[in-house]
Amino acid sequence: MLQKPRGTRDFLPGEMGHRRAVERCMRETAEKWGYGEVCTPIFEEAELFTLRSGEGIIHEMYAFEDKGGRMLALRPEITASVLRMYVNEGRVLPKPVRWSYLADCFRYERPQKGRYRQFWQFGIELIGADTAAADAEVLLVGADVLAATGVTFDMHVGHLAPMKFLLSGLDPHVQRRMMAYLDKRDFDGLRAFSEETGTTDRYDALKALPECRTIEALHDLCGDLPELSRIEETIAILDSECLEYTLDFGIARGLDYYTGMVFEAFAENLGAENQILGGGAYRLAHLFGGDDVASCGFAIGFDRVLVSLGEIEGPRAPVAGVLYTPEARHGAFAVSRRFRREGVHVELNLIERAIGAQMKHAAKNADFAVLLGERECIAGTVTLKNLHSGEQRECGIEDAIAEVKAFGAC
Ligand code: HAM
Repeated sequence: MLQKPRGTRDFLPGEMGHRRAVERCMRETAEKWGYGEVCTPIFEEAELFTLRSGEGIIHEMYAFEDKGGRMLALRPEITASVLRMYVNEGRVLPKPVRWSYLADCFRYERPQKGRYRQFWQFGIELIGADTAAADAEVLLVGADVLAATGVTFDMHVGHLAPMKFLLSGLDPHVQRRMMAYLDKRDFDGLRAFSEETGTTDRYDALKALPECRTIEALHDLCGDLPELSRIEETIAILDSECLEYTLDFGIARGLDYYTGMVFEAFAENLGAENQILGGGAYRLAHLFGGDDVASCGFAIGFDRVLVSLGEIEGPRAPVAGVLYTPEARHGAFAVSRRFRREGVHVELNLIERAIGAQMKHAAKNADFAVLLGERECIAGTVTLKNLHSGEQRECGIEDAIAEVKAFGAC
């Protein structure tokens, strides 16, 4: 038996119903903030991602050469594609541009709970506003979208300037490695690496950085950084909007394009893969041939939100199972059409079997059985059976439709 590829999943209708409901909720929330949905190709020139997304992503990419000899890659994330699209199509638009997306991404990672090779991201990108208000808006949209799904999360907010200040003057490769150790809170690894690279003088300050929970503590550690006033302004807006968050200047982010504020959200019940959102301020457009425009965005790990929410049965519309004797087949199609026209979900019997067997099947899937025999066809009626209570009556089609709809409303 052929199996699906490792790290991918199939979704049955029940689960798809839940996924679609959460998708709707995310889209509607972002729309209220003015973010319009965009769609980009599932594959891009591989260079789009190798330019700036960072080594981690490059090693995890599904890259391939097409028949024309072009190096392409399945998108490992959407931000680079959205900025490429902005440079291609959006430069003439009034700024700031507010775009959202919900799309699947592909990363060759070791699969485990909450980590897949094909996974979905819901995200936004705000392009062309370089202010504390812009940073704050993106963060607030992220928190609003997560809250709307009902997921419980902790938001961590940081900025790259303090970390970059403490690492200044070091080789970029050393900086990147140290940032990665800090991001993982791997202080043993950080110490060993500083000894190896002769940078132990930075160790104590770097180790103290994630513990700076106030601007004052940050000031004591890093002095008068020019970015401090922007950070202060941003968090003043977050406070005035009563957002709950933790200041965390140990966030480095895995992608290389971030330049300013960074933030991540974590769900409690996910184990190791508990990061459900990541984002921040970055600059990418100039690498793709556009202006050096400031941008800020986030992406939510859609699948992780679903795992965190658990299996929730969404509200289901009532279903009418339509059963019939052979001579009433055309009438059954016509009655089904009338039910559907009124918005009722109909499952028409398609297998030649006795009414008893049809009824048994309907009892598994439907809330009502709508039965048509020769008598009902002649009288223009149906026999309606409530499959929950067992009550049965012969009535007009409009009456039957009203009863099924009323069941859905209660
Ligand atoms: P990221 O942190 O690489 O950021 O991914 C965002 C979210 O996608 C993560 O927080 C996680 O929830 C989810 N995710 C990542 N990898 C997997 C996986 N293998 N399986 C399931 N979920 C996963 C970005 O991608 C940036 N583009 C975010 C951004 C937008 N920054 C600015 N704008």
